[in-house]
Amino acid sequence: MAKNKMKVLLVASEAVPFAKVGGLADVVGAQGKIMQEEGLDVRIAIPKYKVVSDNIEKLGLKVKPSFDFTISLENREEKGRVEEVVYAGVTYYLIDRPDYFMREGIYTDPQSRQDYPDNLRRFVFFSRAILECAKGVGFQPDIIHVHDWQTGLIPVYLRTDYKMDSFFRQTKCVFTIHNLAYQGIFPVELFTLTGLDWKYFTIHGLEYYGHLNLMKGGIVYSDVTTTVSQTYAKEIQTPEYGNGLEGVMSDKALYGNLYGIFNGVDYSEWHPSTDTYLKEHFGINYDVDTLDKKKEIKLKYLSENGIKKPDLNKPLIGIVSRLVDQKGWDIILEIIDQLFKEDIYFTVLGTGKYEYENRLRSVKSNYPDKMIVEIGFDIPNSHYIEAASDIYLMPSRFEPCGLNQLYSLAYGTVPVVRYTGGLADTVKDGKTGFVFKNYNPEDMMAALKKAIDMYRTSQDKWKKLMENAMKEDWSWKKAIKSYNELYDKVMAK
Ligand code: ADP
Ligand code: GLC
Repeated sequence: MAKNKMKVLLVASEAVPFAKVGGLADVVGAQGKIMQEEGLDVRIAIPKYKVVSDNIEKLGLKVKPSFDFTISLENREEKGRVEEVVYAGVTYYLIDRPDYFMREGIYTDPQSRQDYPDNLRRFVFFSRAILECAKGVGFQPDIIHVHDWQTGLIPVYLRTDYKMDSFFRQTKCVFTIHNLAYQGIFPVELFTLTGLDWKYFTIHGLEYYGHLNLMKGGIVYSDVTTTVSQTYAKEIQTPEYGNGLEGVMSDKALYGNLYGIFNGVDYSEWHPSTDTYLKEHFGINYDVDTLDKKKEIKLKYLSENGIKKPDLNKPLIGIVSRLVDQKGWDIILEIIDQLFKEDIYFTVLGTGKYEYENRLRSVKSNYPDKMIVEIGFDIPNSHYIEAASDIYLMPSRFEPCGLNQLYSLAYGTVPVVRYTGGLADTVKDGKTGFVFKNYNPEDMMAALKKAIDMYRTSQDKWKKLMENAMKEDWSWKKAIKSYNELYDKVMAK
């Protein structure tokens, strides 16, 4: 007898191609698509932000209103609507409530760069709406797989308010941590917004040093917790990386309920031989056998960004990243003048902390013919930089998985990374890239120098490095197999 398809509801606050701040979006969109192709019945639920509406329009997709629901928030009835849209064969449920989600930003106000003050209310609403949504559309999931703190209350509600609900009797919940540095911590005064009984506000529940912590709720109440690399799964059990939750993580691991499952790359989006952004903009695609075309892209990219007489002998170092402390900007900016003593070009695309944005603009004004800076969020340019650069710099303080080093490997753009989290699991020092251990500007510079020197002095060795990198396979296949096995295990519990 044919096995029934496993039903999985993926829930997140971002998913490509609709809403993206960082790697979470790439992962959720790709995971859904590929699991569906592998024969699971997968649906994805996200909030309907303004950018979601804009992207639906750009993509020319049809939205189907599904149903209206009401939930109770602090004794007030609040209405919302679920809409459905199909993309890449996957049904997306969009949770629509304009006063919460129809804004310019996703988590933060683009002007002030501050978190929206009602973020707790927005994601309590979203979490409760998900459970009503599943019931309303009649999608009875075997697994609800939720991602990061914005969804941390879903496992809690499943075990509390919805515990006796027969609709979810068989449903198990998997919680994935993409970044333990963002935990969704709120003042205790706001606890009542969750609608939960105070008995859950304890050290064994949602309480965290006197505050409410949604990430902790997700970890404690999910059947299993996963994170996005094996090294990070170990790191978060230590005070250095655990952000105060190392004890909770160790407990979860002790009971066999913490897993590290590495993300994959969606090569249909991120491969230089088929990249549509490269094709449209430069009229060029390339692969491991046509690396001269990568050089053509570099020349065009440098010229169109105002670099006069671009020189192929000078390596182009690239970064695409959120401008936040995690990504190593303090050590980069500390040695930036020393870096420019080398004969190099440096291009940066990013947005985030004003302090880093301003510093980068000012450095750019000192090195107009060596540096390119774009402050903003620009998906096409993120592909151009991956293709045009020779070296990709990723000196993260911590990195749960990291996707840009994987994209860099695929594009033959040699990564220089710090040995942490997913970076440690993916870049092989001297074989596919350069790796340094200690988080300081000197060690980073030493690794960069090795790369720059090899690029300059031995094109043969450099080419070999690029070829090794491009031959690596970080597709989703392995991850999906691991998730499938995990889902089976959880269902059997
Ligand atoms: P994180 O999720 O911590 O930001 P990842 O390496 O996992 O780091 O993923 C970052 C993703 O976000 C990549 O797809 C990267 O290309 C993209 N990205 C980051 N900053 C920008 C930007 N300013 N413009 C376009 N894409 C960006
Ligand atoms: C987070 C992490 C990053 C990871 C991404 C997707 O944003 O910072 O390392 O690759 O999530 O899992």
